[in-house]
Amino acid sequence: MSSTRQRNKNSSKEYYSQKKVADGYDEERFTTTGGKMFDTFEKNVVISNLPKNREGVKVLDAGAGSGRFTIEMAKRGFDVVSCDYSSAMLDAIKSKIKALGFENRVTLSKQDVPNLTFNDDEFDFICCMRVFVNLDTIENEVNALKELIIVCKPGGTVVFDIVNPKSLAVFGQRKSSMITLEKAKDIILSFPEVEIKKCFGRRILSQTTFEKAPPFLLGLIDRFDHVLSKIFPFFCVRIYFVLIKLRS
Ligand SMILES: C[S@@+](CC[C@H](N)C(=O)[O-])C[C@H]1O[C@@H](n2cnc3c(N)ncnc32)[C@H](O)[C@@H]1O
Repeated sequence: MSSTRQRNKNSSKEYYSQKKVADGYDEERFTTTGGKMFDTFEKNVVISNLPKNREGVKVLDAGAGSGRFTIEMAKRGFDVVSCDYSSAMLDAIKSKIKALGFENRVTLSKQDVPNLTFNDDEFDFICCMRVFVNLDTIENEVNALKELIIVCKPGGTVVFDIVNPKSLAVFGQRKSSMITLEKAKDIILSFPEVEIKKCFGRRILSQTTFEKAPPFLLGLIDRFDHVLSKIFPFFCVRIYFVLIKLRS
């Protein structure tokens, strides 16, 4: 783990509020071949669940970070609201959308995901990727899910992921904000207004395995990991959920 990825005793909010963390975010995670594979995989998770029709559709990137998903959604013509608690992260998105000419398509908003101030039923589609584990407590995560469900329209979709403490890949780095597959399902089931459309895990092997493996072996390792992830989702590092809001 490089210096900017070292967590101090401060909360994730403080960690991601640092300019050096925001500036190094993409490069630190998604520039190795293994990092790029994960990035592509996660972008596909979001893109494949976007509404087919984009007319009048409003999408939310919650905990948008440096805008990995914001940019993909804006490129596809969606009107995107990107929110994050960190002004440094919002500044990083601002630079990207300016460079790409997407200023008219993306609205930036400083928000705390467990306490959103958007209107009820405002968004047709919401992604909230790599955020839950950064909310520090399970209570914040439950509140965040509640908020995302409230601001999603009936018939809309919420995509998010959790980090699983049962995964060997996080051995030695467990945090109290990690949630098992079973616990996450229990939390989701406590919200009767949503149903789980899809739930799948990814990465039995650690990110480091992917970063250190010789590039020519990565395709093979990825396929092997994909098969293992399907058989043993409860041991995957990341578990992804696609929820549909049934009613307000
Ligand atoms: C690991 S990054 C993920 C960024 C982006 N979603 C992605 O997948 O690349 C976590 C992001 O969540 C944001 N975050 C953490 N706690 C938050 C909170 N309570 N409210 C809003 N954003 C928060 C951080 O500022 C950071 O940008």
